[in-house]
Amino acid sequence: MTDTKTLVQNFDFHGEALDSIFATYKELREKCPVGHSDKYGGFWFLTKSDDIFKVEQDPETYSVRPTMLVPPVADFPMIPIDTDPPELTEYRRILLPLFTPQSLAKMEGPVRDVARDLAKKFVESDSTDATAMFARALPTIFFSRLAGFPEKDWPKFDAWVDDILYERTKDPKRAKAAEKAVVDYFENLIAAYKGRTTQEANTGTIIDYLLEAKVNGKPLTKDELLSYCYLMFLGGLDTTAWAIRASLWYLAQDLKAQRYLREHPEAVPTAAEEFLRTMSPVQAMGRTCKVDTTIRGQKIKAGERVVLLFGAGNRDPEVYDNPEEIQIDRQDNKHLAFGAGHHRCLGSNLGRRELVIALEEFLKIVPEFTLGDLSEKWHGVGRLTLNIKK
Ligand code: HEM
Repeated sequence: MTDTKTLVQNFDFHGEALDSIFATYKELREKCPVGHSDKYGGFWFLTKSDDIFKVEQDPETYSVRPTMLVPPVADFPMIPIDTDPPELTEYRRILLPLFTPQSLAKMEGPVRDVARDLAKKFVESDSTDATAMFARALPTIFFSRLAGFPEKDWPKFDAWVDDILYERTKDPKRAKAAEKAVVDYFENLIAAYKGRTTQEANTGTIIDYLLEAKVNGKPLTKDELLSYCYLMFLGGLDTTAWAIRASLWYLAQDLKAQRYLREHPEAVPTAAEEFLRTMSPVQAMGRTCKVDTTIRGQKIKAGERVVLLFGAGNRDPEVYDNPEEIQIDRQDNKHLAFGAGHHRCLGSNLGRRELVIALEEFLKIVPEFTLGDLSEKWHGVGRLTLNIKK
């Protein structure tokens, strides 16, 4: 049994710590809802939903500089995630047209086509890995097309994402090398885009929007373009893959829920919100205090880092009845999986639709499935072995 002081000081939310993170959150919420960990240069953490909401909505007190990511995933500020208002608003405005209800409605059919195709291939293939064949493949194909990343490059993406996001706490050198590879990749890709003929130009991809954009009357600089592409690459691929994988991981074990959703596909959107609440792909994001402040009686000094534990807030008993239980019909599910303030996920409606469509099509096409390897965990984008009842 770890004593509270040690638990707080050593608190981590990456790697193996995620295996038992929900029990850790519970203990922290009860014993030390605002605590200071010594990891990653030291940070305060918030476990209560209300505290996280308040910080999210207070950019006067909390900045996202130098970066929202703890530990960092780039040695440059990423746009828009590492910028504060008012620049943030300008940067976000660039991509808003891509995520209007009308734009999203046009994406429904193509996402469904990809999901259906992948689910069929999964059933027909000898592979049992639903992550590689489905959960990761769907955002790689759909989001990469939307972003304008050429198909020939897709096979390189998974390893880069893994090295940047998952190796940074274990092997920072490897993460740095991947960071450089991705920056080089976008440098070349942007140059290729700029070299297109007028006929080839502007096909409405994310890269096209960024190239056409003006902020304060000026086009984005090369650094701004690279930074925005880098963030979209990380934000658009990994998160959605995690959400799909985690949902399938759960359904493989709760056959009652799996059967119910097969018979009632109209219940999938509500279930998807519950999977997002309980197994959020983004467990935490950081801020930096701009002025001395106090949260729940705990003094926090200007310059200190504050980590918002979305995953802990999402299981706060003050907000949710039986918070540890996954209830696929839970109503009024105002979770923090996409954040809640000025930086609320720009792709939330797309990510959400990708998840719902993925689950609908998988359940329609893939016969009843169970977990093939009990050692596989709920988190991450690693292998998910499924046994299919054929
Ligand atoms: C289930 C899938 C997803 C989840 C759970 C998720 C979660 C998040 C979270 C927690 C944040 C930070 C919010 C904050 O600190 O307040 C964020 C930001 C962001 N996400 Fe997502 N995301 C998902 C999918 C996507 C997709 C598909 C895209 C791209 C189309 C995307 C693009 C972004 C961008 C651009 C930001 C930065 C917004 C800003 O700083 O203003 N995300 N996301």
